[in-house]
Amino acid sequence: YLQEIELSQETRDLISTLPAEKGLISGHLHQYQGFWYPTMHIQKVLASQKHFQAQDTDILLATTPKSGTTWLKAILFALVKRVHYHPDPQNMDHPLLTNNPHVLVPFLENKHSGKNQIPDPTSYAPPRLFSTHLPLAHLPQSVKDSACKVVYLCRNPKDIIVSLWHFTNRVRHKSMGTNSLEEVFEYFRRGVSGYGPFWDHVLGYWKESLEGPETVFFLKYEEMKEKPGLQLRRLAEFLGCPFSPKEEAQGVVDNILRLCSFENLSNLDVNKNEKLSTGMENSAFFRRGEAGDWRNYLTAEMVEQLDRIIEEKLQVICVCA
Ligand code: A3P
Repeated sequence: YLQEIELSQETRDLISTLPAEKGLISGHLHQYQGFWYPTMHIQKVLASQKHFQAQDTDILLATTPKSGTTWLKAILFALVKRVHYHPDPQNMDHPLLTNNPHVLVPFLENKHSGKNQIPDPTSYAPPRLFSTHLPLAHLPQSVKDSACKVVYLCRNPKDIIVSLWHFTNRVRHKSMGTNSLEEVFEYFRRGVSGYGPFWDHVLGYWKESLEGPETVFFLKYEEMKEKPGLQLRRLAEFLGCPFSPKEEAQGVVDNILRLCSFENLSNLDVNKNEKLSTGMENSAFFRRGEAGDWRNYLTAEMVEQLDRIIEEKLQVICVCA
């Protein structure tokens, strides 16, 4: 979010035609083909749509911000690369111990921004792992044309609002003051949050997962918290790398979950003290890591308003725990 890139004339021209709103972190959000993007991201989105070349073996994690992206990046990396990097507690060389998950699984939107995160996923053996905040409709055509698999992680929007409120205040420039919870709530409710409206984002992937369950795996943060072993095994099956009886006996499932747990990741030196190349502190991605924290923050009126929208828009999915 903090990364400044020079905007091309093409992007400036486009932005000047789009509806705009004040951003919660900095600058503005622009409504492009139905979805709201921070100024800096518009150019990255356009570039990735033009240049990103998907491969059939790619795995793409799709989320809206604050859905648990960092956690699932870690889980996917540990799962898919487990043959090369054993997730057992004795392996002190596991890349997740010294790299933030955002470095190991970069956003495809960043791949063509001119400032790649290092190491590039192509430096690992296939499959390549990418993530994206793009809504389904805005994915690069090469992703849609390829056989690559998509894992969509969804979270209860009430917890997302609380997480977003803390996060935006954490990374905003101090001179801008703080966002009130009411302000963040109101933006989110109206659909004006990065890569939102949340409701449309979720519904796009949900429908796709029903039409092509072998291509899109729809997972909820709350399910992952509740039955992590079960969900991890389902994920492994979906990705074509199920756990063998030998791995089950060795406790590989538990080892992956332990390695990627909030307690473990948030206490690593790299995640406590280091920054991404964008300038973002790694620690900003770890706060409480629980389901249901909204009960400590949202007013009865906010909950009522959200419940109405959830019922209207997301009844089919029931993301509300
Ligand atoms: P909270 O603010 O509710 O704690 P994202 O990665 O999409 O930005 O989402 C951030 C949210 O995921 C934060 O939620 C963060 O604490 C939580 N999170 C980060 N790592 C996690 C982990 N290993 N397990 C569970 N939740 C995690």
